[in-house]
Amino acid sequence: MRGLIFVALLTVAACGPSETPPPPTSEPVPTTQAAAPPAPSNDEEQAKIAALASPYNEANYEAGRRVFAQCRSCHVIDAGAPHRVGPNLHGVFGREIGTAQGFTYSQAVQDASFVWDADHLDHWLQNPQTFLPGNRMAFAGVRDETQRRDLIAYLMVEASE
Ligand code: HEC
Repeated sequence: MRGLIFVALLTVAACGPSETPPPPTSEPVPTTQAAAPPAPSNDEEQAKIAALASPYNEANYEAGRRVFAQCRSCHVIDAGAPHRVGPNLHGVFGREIGTAQGFTYSQAVQDASFVWDADHLDHWLQNPQTFLPGNRMAFAGVRDETQRRDLIAYLMVEASE
């Protein structure tokens, strides 16, 4: 008698799961998937990048933000934030080299004369020491061309906000 009840319970237990799950799972899944897309938060910045001149319009904002992690120990980019080891990079595009207010540059930078644009920045970032010997930026450079493109596009968006 006991054995029979046991078997009956086991049968219920075995049948139960195979019948109950399908209805609930097949319905909620589409709803949660539809709710997921709004999650990515860089859409606005990525749209600004799409409006930049080639090849920067093909850059990846998030990848550029990650490359900028290499600069953050020495540079801030928010308007009005204090200089660190390096000058604040806000508004760097279109600015004469070595003219961030209140920052004391090396003689090499003070003697240089050009306006920062994507091209100059690309060369500077590739290898600061060969581009402008004697400057004080202790940074080996970003050798990867795609990383520089993403970084410069990131700077174009962030330095002007
Ligand atoms: C170890 C600290 C350090 C790191 C890391 C660093 N920099 Fe610099 N950067 C400096 C210093 C110091 C100067 C000023 C150089 C001088 O006066 O010779 C400078 C100058 C510059 C300038 C010239 C600014 C001007 O006003 O003319 C740019 C542009 C720049 N850095 C961009 C970057 C970027 C982008 C990165 C990251 C890929 C980076 N730097 C990483 C310290 C650093």
